[in-house]
Amino acid sequence: MKLTCLRLLMVSVLATLLTMSSADLQYDFYNSSCPNAETTIRNVVYSQIDANPSVAAALIRLLFHDCFVRGCDASILLDPSSANPSPEKSVIPLAQAGYQAVDQIKAAVEAVCPGKVSCADIIAFAARDSVNKSAGFSYAVPAGRRDGSVSTDFSLLTNMPSPSFGIADLVGSFKRKNLDVDDLVTLSGAHTIGVSHCSSFTNRLYPSVDPAMDAGYAADLKVPCPAPPGRGVPDNLVNNSAVITTPMTFDNQFYKNALARRVLFTSDAALMTRNDTVAKVTENAADLAAWKVRFAASMVKMGNIEVLTGTQGQVRKYCRAIGS
Ligand code: HEM
Ligand SMILES: *[C@@H]1O[C@H](CO)[C@@H](O)[C@H](O)[C@H]1NC(C)=O
Ligand SMILES: *[C@@H]1O[C@H](CO)[C@@H](O)[C@H](O)[C@H]1NC(C)=O
Ligand SMILES: *[C@@H]1O[C@H](CO)[C@@H](O)[C@H](O)[C@H]1NC(C)=O
Ligand SMILES: *[C@@H]1O[C@H](CO)[C@@H](O)[C@H](O)[C@H]1NC(C)=O
Repeated sequence: MKLTCLRLLMVSVLATLLTMSSADLQYDFYNSSCPNAETTIRNVVYSQIDANPSVAAALIRLLFHDCFVRGCDASILLDPSSANPSPEKSVIPLAQAGYQAVDQIKAAVEAVCPGKVSCADIIAFAARDSVNKSAGFSYAVPAGRRDGSVSTDFSLLTNMPSPSFGIADLVGSFKRKNLDVDDLVTLSGAHTIGVSHCSSFTNRLYPSVDPAMDAGYAADLKVPCPAPPGRGVPDNLVNNSAVITTPMTFDNQFYKNALARRVLFTSDAALMTRNDTVAKVTENAADLAAWKVRFAASMVKMGNIEVLTGTQGQVRKYCRAIGS
């Protein structure tokens, strides 16, 4: 490329950046453009969870996966296409129930106010409503996120923490997203609900049981996961919580499990390897009400990661494809 050509390109990129306006997220963002947005979203989320309880966990996890990779811009929702064969969702398979619930929510919202409510805001509201439905508490969600148009396997691989992470890597990964150690411990409470594949934790069972895991719990897990998946061994699902009182009840059970060394992932157990995180796990296990307040605040904070606002990005009509 000729130098003048390159200069022109840089000037136009700069001009675009300058004319794009951005702003903070706002509470009641849709109060005039789509006054029924939040109620519509809540109604669909509740009916989806009633029809299939696994939707709650899937929608809560979706916010985490959306926000950690290129910010909360609904890039996680983009399907593979000929132009973009390996988007974020091609790397880590999340529950289809979550994506399908978002399709239903988006269709309902488009029916009441076409082209107004972004897919990124839908993810943030739907996570809030899933918490309300499964844990019985709620919180206000600021909105005004816009949808992004870039989604790559590379950005996922470089931004998502792995279940094999130890505490230093976990803290570093959260810190890069402006989340602190308290947020890490608080949000890990989400591993009270939902399910995991054996492949996410058999590193702690084979060839020998992780000494940081309760022996009885390890023996229980070896029933659905008799060997590392592959070579004829199926990758079965187990419940995230060692103790399920009511199906899909979301509370502070994760922290009680962590203290009892009955959590699934290396990354969960890592919270018990440093004094400050142990102290926070202990606090959350002892005080359900205090954890709820922290969880709500950390979910709002996570929902603010690298958001597009104002005239940045777009509002997709169909969450699985850009420019739709
Ligand atoms: C701290 C870093 C984290 C790691 C390494 C991690 C890793 C994982 C893994 C490996 C699974 C099981 C996936 C499978 O085997 O199918 C899982 C499930 C889940 N995670 Fe996390 N996670 C983390 C943080 C979070 C956060 C911050 C949230 C939300 C606030 C969250 C919510 C969930 C939920 C709800 C599930 C169950 C999903 C379902 O049943 O569909 N996780 N996580
Ligand atoms: C919408 O909410 C914003 C922020 O709370 C407020 O400034 C504005 O007056 C509200 N608009 C309407 C129409 O209620
Ligand atoms: C939380 O759920 C309750 C009961 O369904 C409902 O009355 C309340 O409006 C919900 N809160 C939010 C913010 O949606
Ligand atoms: C998970 O827990 C629910 C509720 O107790 C139970 O119905 C289901 O069978 C459990 N699933 C697995 C794979 O253990
Ligand atoms: C953690 O606590 C133990 C016991 O109170 C103490 O001996 C150790 O020095 C502490 N470690 C750090 C890194 O604070």
